[in-house]
Amino acid sequence: MCGIFAYTGAKEAGNLLLEGLVSLEYRGYDSAGIYTPESGVVKTPGAVGALRKKMPKKYEGKSGIAHLRWATHGEPTEVNAHPHTGSGEIWVVHNGIIENFKELKGVLEKKGHTFASKSDTEVLAHLIEEHMKKEKNFEKATLKALNQVRGTYGVAVQYKGEPEKLIAGRMGSPIVLGIGKNENFIASDPSPILKHTKKVVFLNDGEMAVLTPKSHTIYKLTKELVKRAPEELDWSPEEAQKGGYEHFMLKEIMEGPEVIENTLRGRLIPEKGMAKLGGLESVTKELAKIERIIIVACGTAYYAGLVGEYMLEEFAGIPVEVELASEFRYRHPVLNQRTAVLAISQSGETADTLEAIREGKRKGALTLGIVNAVGSTIARETDAGVYNHAGPEMSVASTKALVSQLTALTLLTIFLGRQRGMSAKTGKEIAKELKALPKKLAAILSGKEAIEKLAKKYSGARDFLFIGRKYNFPIALEGAIKLKEISYIHAEGYGAGEMKHGPIAMIDENFPTFALAPKDSVYDKMLSNIEQLKARKGPVIALANEGDKEIGKLADDVVYVPKTLEMLSPILNVVPLQLFAYYFAREKGLDVDRPRNLAKSVTVE
Ligand code: M6R
Repeated sequence: MCGIFAYTGAKEAGNLLLEGLVSLEYRGYDSAGIYTPESGVVKTPGAVGALRKKMPKKYEGKSGIAHLRWATHGEPTEVNAHPHTGSGEIWVVHNGIIENFKELKGVLEKKGHTFASKSDTEVLAHLIEEHMKKEKNFEKATLKALNQVRGTYGVAVQYKGEPEKLIAGRMGSPIVLGIGKNENFIASDPSPILKHTKKVVFLNDGEMAVLTPKSHTIYKLTKELVKRAPEELDWSPEEAQKGGYEHFMLKEIMEGPEVIENTLRGRLIPEKGMAKLGGLESVTKELAKIERIIIVACGTAYYAGLVGEYMLEEFAGIPVEVELASEFRYRHPVLNQRTAVLAISQSGETADTLEAIREGKRKGALTLGIVNAVGSTIARETDAGVYNHAGPEMSVASTKALVSQLTALTLLTIFLGRQRGMSAKTGKEIAKELKALPKKLAAILSGKEAIEKLAKKYSGARDFLFIGRKYNFPIALEGAIKLKEISYIHAEGYGAGEMKHGPIAMIDENFPTFALAPKDSVYDKMLSNIEQLKARKGPVIALANEGDKEIGKLADDVVYVPKTLEMLSPILNVVPLQLFAYYFAREKGLDVDRPRNLAKSVTVE
C-alpha cells in the first residue's frame, strides 16, 4: 500500500526524503510527491526516479513530508498524488480511506472551500485549515479534524507556518515514529527510518503525535497524554519491509484480516443486505440482463473462480462456467451480449487472462474484472470491475490476493443476487457473517504455531493429497498448488468424491492426505472419504470446525477453524493450507518468496 515518510531536523530534507521513499517502493507505487515549507510541493505520476527528475536542482528545507501512492480511488495522476492541501497552509500525506469524505466535503464547500482533486485526503487538509480559523493552533485544529473523520488513516501533516513541527496520526493504518538525535521521523513502516536511527515508537490506533527536531509527544485523540518509551529495532532494511517476518509470504498471510476489511470497506450495506460496488455502477443495467457468466483466470485466481461459480449459481441464480484462461480462446467459445466474461487476476497483467478478456470483447460479451493492481492492463481493458484493495503482493505464492478475491466474489454475489431475487434476509445473513470473518481469521492466525509443528511432522513426505467437496473442492486444489510451487513436492488436489475413481490407488502409509471437512452440507460424505483413506493406512490431517469431536477419532491430526456460512468457509479454510505450505517449504530450507522457475506475473503465454 502507500508509503509515508516525513522528517524534521537539521539535514537537507529533500534528498533524505527521496532516499526514504526508495526504500518504500517495495510497497508498490504509481505516483509520488514531496513537500517542504521552504521549496513547496512537487508531485508526479511514476516512482521516485520520476519525482527526482521533476524536482528543481535547488530544493531546500530542513523538514518535509513525502508520499508514494498505490492508487485505490482515483487515477494515478499528478493532481491525485499526495501531499494534498487546501489553501497551501496545511499539507497532508495519507494512507487509508476517509469514508465520510463526501459528507465533510459538502459541509466545507458550503463554507467556501474549493477542491482541486477527487481525493478523500484533500478533504482532511481543508478540514484542518477550517479548524485553524477558529483554533489558531495547528495541534488543536488537527486533533479536531482527526476526531471528525471516519475510516482508516495513517497520516503525516505539516503546517507552512511552523516548519519544524510535524503531526502524525493513526487509525487502522500503521505509523511509526523514528526518534533520532536532534531529528525525528514519521513513516508507514520502519524501512526508511532505520538508516538514521534504530529507536522507534509505534503509534496505536486513535493516537496522534507531535514532533519537532528535539521532541515527540503522543496523545490519544481523547487528549490524554501517552507515555511510551522508544524501542530499539534491530531489523535490516529487508526485515523492515517484511514487517519483522522472515518472509513476505508469511507477512502477507498474516495480513488476511486487514485484507478482508479493506476489500469490504464502504461496499456493504448490512442493514439492507446489499452490496455497493462503485466500479460496476456504469454497467448496472447491462448486468441485470446478463444470462451467463464465464470466469477466466489462471492458477490460484482460477480456484477463486471455482468458488465463485458455486456462490453465484447458488445465491444469484446465474449460470456460471469457469475456464482456464489459457484454454478459453482456443476452443471457440460461444458468447453474446448477454454473457459476461469475468477475469480474476491479482496482477492484472497475466497474458492468458488478458487475451481471454480480449476474446470476450471481440465476441460482444460484457467484460468485467476482479483485479488487485490498479491501472493494470486488465483493469483498463475491461468494461467495469471490482478492485481487491489487498495491497501489493510480493511473494510469488499468492495468498492474501486469494482471500481478497473470494471476498470480492462474495460482494459480487450479493450485488447480482439482490438484482435477481435474493431475499434481503439472505443478503443480511451473508453481510453479517462477512463482517465477522476478520476476527475469525485472526483467531486462526493466532494458532499458527500448531500448523508449524504439523508441517514439521509431515515435512518428510514426498507426496500429498488434498481433498474437499463442494465449496472446499477448489480449496483442496489450492492447497496442492501452494505446496507444489514452494516446496517442489508432488501434491494433488481432488474433489473427495473423485478419490475412488483413481487417486486412492496411490494411498499407503507414506502418502498423507489433507482433508477439508468443515461441518457443512457434505460433512458426512467427507467422513466416509476419510475412513476410506484410513482403511488404506493413509495418514490424514483433517481441517474441521471447532467443537467437532467425531473427527478426532478418525484423523491422525486435526486443524480446527471457527465455523462460518458454508459459502464463506473457503475464505477461512484456505489460510491453514497456506500456512502449512509456508512452514513445510521453510522446513526444507527453500526460498519461499522466490520459488524456482516461477514469476510473480506471467506475462507470456
Ligand atoms: O496475477 P494473477 O492473479 O493473474 O496470477 C495468476 C497465477 O499466475 C497465480 O495465481 C499463480 O498461480 C500463483 N503463483 C499461485 O500462488
